[in-house]
Amino acid sequence: MKPKSAALWAKQDQHEGDRWRLFSSVAKAVEADAALYPGCYVDVAPSFVFRSVTYVDMDKRTPGFFADTEGLLELVRQHQGPANPDIAFIHGNYTDPLDLPEAHFDLLISLFAGFVSEHCTEHLKVGGTLLVNPSHGDAAMASIDPRYVLSGVIDSSDGEYRVDTKDLDTYLIPKKPQSITVEALHESGRGVGYTKSAFAYLFTRVA
Ligand SMILES: C[S@@+](CC[C@H](N)C(=O)[O-])C[C@H]1O[C@@H](n2cnc3c(N)ncnc32)[C@H](O)[C@@H]1O
Repeated sequence: MKPKSAALWAKQDQHEGDRWRLFSSVAKAVEADAALYPGCYVDVAPSFVFRSVTYVDMDKRTPGFFADTEGLLELVRQHQGPANPDIAFIHGNYTDPLDLPEAHFDLLISLFAGFVSEHCTEHLKVGGTLLVNPSHGDAAMASIDPRYVLSGVIDSSDGEYRVDTKDLDTYLIPKKPQSITVEALHESGRGVGYTKSAFAYLFTRVA
């Protein structure tokens, strides 16, 4: 890898292999060929497990990182990833229309990057999966979105990830009585406290 990209990746991968393990656990639970990752920064770990990944970010450091094609392919090889990975990058704001087909992707990834589900679900196939963590409120946003149903939770312990599909009705129950609305989530920009928490959630697009 070029030194700048290598430095960015080393910082991203501080907990070595953490995201690799996360996406591997998702790949075991969900059949996905093409993934879309808005707000990715330099987290290229989905390409270690999914053949085709389209990354979107507006940070000024990201175009240089994703332009290091040879370096990225080397990283994929080091992680025993797909033989011919398709790695695409869009430098832009995911709240603007993206030049991507509708209902095309099998997996939409939303990690620590705002309301990805609100703006990018149109690109996810019906039957496809949203992987979302709760910290920026996007899991709560998906939980009130009629296009989604909860289909799994991801627990993490000792750096390992496990997808669970049991007792899903016991998740996403707010600790405090509150009305969860799009407006309230926009205003707070934060997650909702739940009686039972998970590292992340899997939702299936149903409409
Ligand atoms: C906290 S970082 C998380 C990066 C990565 N998802 C992860 O989990 O390691 C948030 C990233 O989302 C990007 N981002 C936030 N809002 C965005 C938007 N509207 N359009 C494109 N990128 C966005 C930022 O530029 C930043 O790189």
